[in-house]
Amino acid sequence: MRLDFDGSDPLDRERFPVDEWRLVEAFPSDDDLGLTETLFAIGNGYLGMRGNPPEGRPSATHGTFVNGFHETWDIHHAEQAYGFAHTGQTIVNVPDSKVMKLYVDDEPLLLSTADLMEYERSVDFRDGMLRRHLIWRTPSGKIVQVDTTCMISFTERHLAIMTIKVTMLGGSAPVVISSQVLNRQDGADEYQDREAMAKKEGWDPRKAGSFSSRVLEPQGHWHSDRRMILGYKCARSGMTLAVGADHTIETDNVVEELIDTQPDLGKKVYRVDATEGETITITKAVAYHSSRGVPARELFDRCRRTLDRVRRDGIARELDQQRDWVQKYWDNADVEVEGHPEVQQAVRWNLFQIAQASARADQLGVAAKGVSGSGYEGHYFWDTEIYVVPFLAYTFPTAAKNLLRFRVNLLDHARARARELAQRGALFPWRTINGLEASAYYAAGTAQYHIDADVAYAVARYTDATGDEDFLRRDGAEILVETARMWADLGFWRVDGGRTFHIHGVTGPDEYTTVVNNNLFTNVMARFNLERAAAAVREIREGDPTAYARLRSRLNLQDEEVQEWEECAAHMAVPFDEGLGIHPQDENFLDRELWDLSRTPADKRPLLLNYHPLVIYRFQVLKQADVVLALLLQGDRFSLDEKRRNFEYYDPITTGDSSLSAVVQSIIAAEVGHHKLAMHYFLSGLYVDLADLHGNTADGVHIASAGGVWNALVYGFAGMRDHGKGLTFDPRLPDTWPRLSFPLRVHGTRLRIVLEQDAITFTVVEGDPTTVSVRGESHVVGGDGPVRVELDGQGPRLTHLVPRQPAPVVRADGTVITAGVPTDPETLAQEAALQAVSAAQSSATVPPARQ
Ligand code: BGC
Repeated sequence: MRLDFDGSDPLDRERFPVDEWRLVEAFPSDDDLGLTETLFAIGNGYLGMRGNPPEGRPSATHGTFVNGFHETWDIHHAEQAYGFAHTGQTIVNVPDSKVMKLYVDDEPLLLSTADLMEYERSVDFRDGMLRRHLIWRTPSGKIVQVDTTCMISFTERHLAIMTIKVTMLGGSAPVVISSQVLNRQDGADEYQDREAMAKKEGWDPRKAGSFSSRVLEPQGHWHSDRRMILGYKCARSGMTLAVGADHTIETDNVVEELIDTQPDLGKKVYRVDATEGETITITKAVAYHSSRGVPARELFDRCRRTLDRVRRDGIARELDQQRDWVQKYWDNADVEVEGHPEVQQAVRWNLFQIAQASARADQLGVAAKGVSGSGYEGHYFWDTEIYVVPFLAYTFPTAAKNLLRFRVNLLDHARARARELAQRGALFPWRTINGLEASAYYAAGTAQYHIDADVAYAVARYTDATGDEDFLRRDGAEILVETARMWADLGFWRVDGGRTFHIHGVTGPDEYTTVVNNNLFTNVMARFNLERAAAAVREIREGDPTAYARLRSRLNLQDEEVQEWEECAAHMAVPFDEGLGIHPQDENFLDRELWDLSRTPADKRPLLLNYHPLVIYRFQVLKQADVVLALLLQGDRFSLDEKRRNFEYYDPITTGDSSLSAVVQSIIAAEVGHHKLAMHYFLSGLYVDLADLHGNTADGVHIASAGGVWNALVYGFAGMRDHGKGLTFDPRLPDTWPRLSFPLRVHGTRLRIVLEQDAITFTVVEGDPTTVSVRGESHVVGGDGPVRVELDGQGPRLTHLVPRQPAPVVRADGTVITAGVPTDPETLAQEAALQAVSAAQSSATVPPARQ
């Protein structure tokens, strides 16, 4: 289902002017606070802060998040069953240190009502700095310039630095700046009526739940004349946290300073007699430290150490390091789209979100919303492995490796979970923070066994991209073996003429069809997993006997197992319908009626918020790409013609209700030659958050889609594939784009790729020569300068349209697959009303019964 935006620039450019390196807001608005808090959120993968104004209001959702810092709770199933997830996990809104309230002549600065002579808010992708500049005419007629900055360090993961500069441009006045650290998780928010907010927002399973009792138990508070530290422990999970803030002031004016701390609030207040023309600068360095169990008082010391170091080395050094770090990030990751500055800005915003979500996750996961919001409770999903790791593997391998190490560290939990579900090997949780399955609705959660293959796929992607044998031998192989064991045990053999290996009772990526037999995506990804595990074990056995002996004894690995995996893979059931020439999403998928999305009004979308799951499950209708994703990840196992037929079959019945869909649809549309759709879906992914296309950006950035933007550019338009035999390119540059260029890091070599309409050029920027293949021809790059390969066009250009309505088609058995829609609730209501009227009329005309 295509979104009804016509592909033109969807942003209001008066308010958000085009700037290739910044997201800029030219004037504030209270109408979309939740959205802009997310768009202007900053983070480093460990610590994240939403773009709330330093004054603390106006605001929709305050948020400061520490990756993985969560509270647990008991999941109460109204009808319990064995093995259901029992530990709920929710990311905690940690104490807010962004607050720097300003009063001039005792009047508070409040954007909603302030008379602003100038205003600009921006986040700069070159230094990760959130800046705000404004000139305020106070009610008493004074003119005040206020400049604030906020930066979360990529080099010091625990550190944030904020500044506020206040200059009286017209008149002198008493100025008060109140810098705070405030526990908003438990403390009543001084300005918001939470119940009213909750009612207004309504029910949405994608939002985080709220707690009815206290989460952060105070563990002490301390202050000196410029520093304050508050400590907490989560009531249930036992996680501990400390936050410390250090202040300095520069001014020639007379200043009076106060400081105080209480269990839920720390305040450092400056009262300044501000004279005209003098600037007051306050710098606030903040450190957050968290732990799974270390007492909070130890975290106090860690905060002190971080803050002491900043004080010793100076803020300027931190800012320089930040700039260098970000520069390096872009050297390795920037994708340049020539001739379309608005697209360029959006591309960079998305790529910057991945840095903000993953850079310093340092062996924690990347949540669906990174550290920008509490949507999906702060849980980690397959989003990371399929949408984020490919990007990181080719641009920022250390971060990719850390994310895989995070999964290695969860293996013991995954083994235990497999046992709980009566399986061998390891089964990763569908969604989690602490390693335990947190998906209460198993049909669209735990049943997504494909998570195991997704993790294995990420291991393969990383090792192929980097050649990091050491990781493979030590850790990667353990993941591959344990997941392969799970598949070999989960499936079963069916003898029907030949022997096929079936996997039943699973859910694929598309959550609008659940618990099915032989989901195509699951089976082909499991096949890949089994093959990769077998190949890895054989390679290690031959190449490194010591590592092999270690692996064998650690995992009690038997030679026969490897053979078994190969057999399961070789005989994997892969549903195919001869009549339609497509791969059904699962064995019984085509038995269902098609959902005619062209007859479903926009106000009934997303379907998951408007129809009972049973209604949805009855139809052929997709939340997100499923077979089409398999066509990308296992692209070497399908012909171009098969890809086209499958794409055209699934496109009209794919709602794209999940933001994980559009970018994948764009890549396959580009490959098969539906270039207009490729662009349409690319833009639908590119602007998911910037234009709030799913209406829930307020809950946080859609990180998988942001990663998918890179995938759509590199796999989609540049036509790169990496199926384990080196990099191949079959480009599909859009007609209107003169040039697309990007760097890639492959086995330590840094390549630069420039794609134009008539050629693709490769240059080794750093490292050894490497080989790439373009449309079947190999080229060695390196040594003698750039290699330019002429291109005869940009692949097939299909002229027929893919209709929006699914066409009735005939099944292999001759029956017709019809298309329909569930009865509209309004029609049902009208019918019920009519029935009530006629019942009332008939009771009025029936004569009273005789006594
Ligand atoms: C999607 C999942 C995804 C999750 C978190 C859901 O809506 O269906 O595939 O993992 O969101 O992003």
